[in-house]
Order: sequence, then C-alpha cells, then structure tokens
Amino acid sequence: MVQFRLPQNSRIGTGRTWPKPASASLREFRVYRWNPEDGGNPLTDTYFVDTDDCGPMVLDGLIWIKNNVDSTLTFRRSCREGICGSCAMNINGQNTLACTMAMDAEIGAVMINPLPHQPVIKDLVPDLTNFFAQLASIEPWLQTRTPTPEKEWRQSHEDREKLDGLYECILCACCSTSCPSYWWNSERFLGPAALLQAARWIRDSRDEATGERLDNLEDPFRLYRCHTILNCAKACPKGLNPSEAIAELRLKLVERKL
Ligand code: SF4
Ligand code: SF4
Ligand code: FES
Repeated sequence: MVQFRLPQNSRIGTGRTWPKPASASLREFRVYRWNPEDGGNPLTDTYFVDTDDCGPMVLDGLIWIKNNVDSTLTFRRSCREGICGSCAMNINGQNTLACTMAMDAEIGAVMINPLPHQPVIKDLVPDLTNFFAQLASIEPWLQTRTPTPEKEWRQSHEDREKLDGLYECILCACCSTSCPSYWWNSERFLGPAALLQAARWIRDSRDEATGERLDNLEDPFRLYRCHTILNCAKACPKGLNPSEAIAELRLKLVERKL
C-alpha cells in the first residue's frame, strides 16, 4: 500500500504562548512564525492583543504585538490604507489586506499565515520575486509606435472609463496566491494579477502594442492554465475580477484568428 508522508519540516508546530497583558479587552492572535535560517520547523505563536490600546484593524494588532510584546515578529506594511498592497496575508483562511480587515470581523482567535504557496523569507513575509518577474514579463507600461505628441498622449473620457476595474489593482498578490492553478504552475502560468495587468494595457486606447502583447500570451501555460475557478475574484480586496479580464484576453485571441 502506498503511504504518503510529509517531509518533517513541512509540519507547523505549536509555538510559544506569550503572556497576557493586564486588560479586560484581549484579542487572541495565532501567528505563523518561521525563520528558514534557524533550520527549525515553522511554529504558530499565540499572542494576546490589548484592543483598548490599539487601532481596530488586524494590522494594528500586529504592530501592537511588535511594539509591546515581540519585536522579532516580521511582516510587511506601508500605507495602512489599502493602497500599497504590502500587508497582504492570509487571515482566517482568506487572503486579504491586514490594514483593511477589522479585528472584530471574525469571531474567535485571529489566525494569520503568510500568503499561500510562496517561499517564505521570514514569518509573514513571502518572497514575491517570481510574482513581480511575471508582471514585468507582460511589460506593464504604455507602448506606442506613432511619434510622441508635443504635450501628452490624450484619451477620451469614454476610453479612460474602459480601464475601470483594471487600473485599481494594487499588486498585492492576494488573487494569484489564492489560485489553485497558480499554486501548481506558478513557474509557467502568469496568474490572475499579471493577466489582469496584461488586459489593462491591451484595453488602453493609447497603447499600440496589442499584437505583440497577445503574441506573448498565446501559450498553453501563460494564459490558458486558468480554469475559471474564480478564487481570484473572491480574494481581491479591491473588488476586482481578474477572471473576467482573463476571459477577455481569451476572446481577443480567438477574435484575431477569425
Ligand atoms: S479564475 Fe483562473 S486565475 Fe482566477 S483563481 Fe480561477 S484559475 Fe486562477
Ligand atoms: S487583482 Fe486584486 S488581488 Fe490581484 S493583485 Fe490586484 S488588487 Fe491584489
Ligand atoms: S499597508 Fe498598504 S495595503 Fe495594507
């Protein structure tokens, strides 16, 4: 009989339970801790956040822990306003932004893990090198052939509005790291975030590289590994729908053959 065993270092152990502060308003946080350089297995540490002493969001709780309990806890954050995308993590099983997720949005302990299926640099910091290399591969900037106008590339209001639902992407990677197709093929499938950006530039009335952009996607893996599972749309904290953008790209590839 075949037996499958996980490698020993793929198991997450129970970590340290940190002391409770003297407060009547406590919120339990269970947080993934791992420093690959230590050579040990990942652990889940338990902390108690004094909610009377910090802001209402999960990111406020993490910052409170770092400032008051455990300065070694490592995570990314910058804007604190849902704009920079750097605080993306998995909270209670859902990829989202820690700075826009209220602590009391969920009942019970707040379980926090790094974005799934990415190498971990430390604790809640994923290595997004591949994610950003894939973004670079779709060349996310305006490309033109006609001579540059004296002042600016103009766009009508109607054409600008066609970019709604695409330009708002903050590249947080919540969608790509929630996509099962991306988990298994992230070396070759571009994933929903990069494909949404590809659609954004193809839809831009000022861009003149549509043919080359579509050529770049005509590949069994880069685009067509999307199986319309729709996790990406569910995960996006900005309410965008990458699967719709992917469907549009597929349609354009079919249309140009007709
Ligand atoms: S719709 Fe496509 S890109 Fe989105 S989660 Fe599903 S397989 Fe991934
Ligand atoms: S589409 Fe949404 S989830 Fe994906 S990277 Fe952009 S903002 Fe993040
Ligand atoms: S800190 Fe910028 S999106 Fe959360």
